[in-house]
Amino acid sequence: MDRADRRADRIEGLRRAVRYHDHRYYGLEDPEILDADYDDLRRELIALEEAHPHLITPDSPTRRVGASPSGLFAPAPHRERMFSLDNAENANELADWMARLERRLGRPPGDLVCELKIDGLAVTLTYEHGVLTRSATRGDGVTGEDVTANVRTIPAVPLRLLGDAPGFMEVRGEVYMPLPSFEELNARQAEAGERMFANARNAAAGSVRQKDPAVTAGRNLSIWVYQLAYMEGGPALGSHSETLELLGRLGMRVNPATAVVPDLPAAAAFVERARAERNDLPYQTDGVVIKLDDLAEQERLGFTARAPRWAVAYKYPAEERTTRLLGIEINIGRTGAATPFAVLEPVFVGGANVGMATLHNEDEIRRKDIRVGDHVVVRRAGDVIPEVVGPVVSRRTGEEHPWSMPSHCPFCGAPVVRPEGEKVARCTRGLTCPSRLREWLFHFAGRGGMDIEGMGYKTIDLLLDKGLIEDPADIFFLRADDFLDPEHPLRPEHTEHKPGCWFEGWGALSVGNLMDGIEAARDRPVGRLLVGLGIRHVGGTVARLLARESGGMEALKTADAERLAAVDGIGTVIAESVVEWFSDEDNLRLIDRLGEGGVRLADPERAEDPARVLEGVRLVLTGGLESMTRDAVKAAVEEQGGALTSAVSTKTTALVAGSSPGGKLAKAEALGVPVIDEAGFLRLLEEGPSALG
Ligand code: IVH
Repeated sequence: MDRADRRADRIEGLRRAVRYHDHRYYGLEDPEILDADYDDLRRELIALEEAHPHLITPDSPTRRVGASPSGLFAPAPHRERMFSLDNAENANELADWMARLERRLGRPPGDLVCELKIDGLAVTLTYEHGVLTRSATRGDGVTGEDVTANVRTIPAVPLRLLGDAPGFMEVRGEVYMPLPSFEELNARQAEAGERMFANARNAAAGSVRQKDPAVTAGRNLSIWVYQLAYMEGGPALGSHSETLELLGRLGMRVNPATAVVPDLPAAAAFVERARAERNDLPYQTDGVVIKLDDLAEQERLGFTARAPRWAVAYKYPAEERTTRLLGIEINIGRTGAATPFAVLEPVFVGGANVGMATLHNEDEIRRKDIRVGDHVVVRRAGDVIPEVVGPVVSRRTGEEHPWSMPSHCPFCGAPVVRPEGEKVARCTRGLTCPSRLREWLFHFAGRGGMDIEGMGYKTIDLLLDKGLIEDPADIFFLRADDFLDPEHPLRPEHTEHKPGCWFEGWGALSVGNLMDGIEAARDRPVGRLLVGLGIRHVGGTVARLLARESGGMEALKTADAERLAAVDGIGTVIAESVVEWFSDEDNLRLIDRLGEGGVRLADPERAEDPARVLEGVRLVLTGGLESMTRDAVKAAVEEQGGALTSAVSTKTTALVAGSSPGGKLAKAEALGVPVIDEAGFLRLLEEGPSALG
């Protein structure tokens, strides 16, 4: 086959695939692949057709928008064509869009309107003299399906408009299912043994396209409207933002997170903010829609065959993708717990390449029936660790095989044992298992523990590999010289400026920085050291309590379980675990050696209560922080007895403003709520409200 034939073949193959998945999605409402994977197929087909227009055939699935009517509903021809939107996937594509606009307009456009891109089902609503007379789905853009009876059951859709309604209007909006309702629905479906929905969007679409409106009515749907397609006998409108105001005044639901901005950089900032806050919303969004505000400019630009030129959808990277599960391996954690993880054919998901994902535990793998060789759905949302959601059963070939926990630790060979009734299997070696040791050192040096700058896995692996450390205390005996490679001995001609004698990847500067990091860690509060030691049941809060109660390591060595258990917030289980840890000879030796290494073993006396420094404090976060995810901020605040709430009010103690803060900033300023930055927040976490000054 020559190249041209192969190309024609590929195009035909893509068409068959797209047709098939269109049918599964629109016809059977039972999609077999993820939207993102479908989009890839379609995009490749469009690109090939664009590059080789002579190969386009009228029956290609790219020649129409969306689905053809299913026959379940009466056809509803649209008065104005229902367009889709062109996508931009990154800042460059956004800039290209703007450049095209400027070329056509001969100057930069005026204001831009940024709206959330709601991930639901597009509908059009027709109001005649203020009364809802018809609602239809998009269909192929020219003719939709008449779903009036079903849409009428959605409480947020006004059956009659408020005030002075225009004689005739056609409004576009997105029907969606709030996430809590989606979860409830799926739970109900599961209970009743009915089909579950893959996501809230499919659930919304499936609920609108029901034969019986009573079913739709029971599905708790809602709507956001975002576009006026046609109007007769209404007020004169000059801009899209005025249009949205009008729609709101007439009683329709317009999303409040809409902003008018002067230019593209401001729109890009809106996108970042929306992305940071999207997981706080009770509904799904999949991007931001940017529209020109000036209706005269919109008019001048008009439409392409598919979409308006005056708008663009900035889509977030897909958070779910399918890929092949090549194998399952286990990791032995700090406590010896064996955690299975997936080795994947690398896939770009949630904005990063993912080759590994967590599988939680053995039961979870069995419950989801995940088999080695399966195609699996991988999810990576925000900064969350990628996970395997489940297998794509329809793509099995019979070659896949179930997995079970290995009987021996792959790192030290000791038996892996799962006690009756427990979820977790463990390596039985103890801390001499190299994987446990490595994880312990990482935890010891990590943020919650001694927070040693520069001591990540890479450094730890080198130190272990070269035999320079065997436990956490060894870290404090390291000297810069230890990083000189003995195979390249230091010779007189080697100076700081002529490296080559350090271990690979290291130099005078990085070694110096690490030494500074270790030096700084010597003086950490005892609570952090206690966390770093990895005593069972001793997290940050308990560690601070223990440090405060005892004053330091010396007293803990002889602490009495009963007395410890009497401390508010400690209890018997923790007390016994602490006493047990401090009665182990090896552990006592470790503490002595930490002391010899210069680590602080006692805290200076402090008058006030350092535990739970944020008791009664209410914080709100807007924008993103460099050093912590939103979830980590929440956990840290709650651990200190504070609360992280979503809306700024007069009860808010302070607003933490990260990069590209949102509308909450203006609100805080208006209410006189103190605003702090990331550094201020970290101080607040350590010192409590006194850090607010
Ligand atoms: S405007 C002529 N605004 O996204 C302009 N669409 O991928 C038509 N969507 O078909 C669309 N939120 O179903 C617009 N704020 C928003 C939107 C939005 C969600 C949907 C709509 C559209 C699809 C395009």
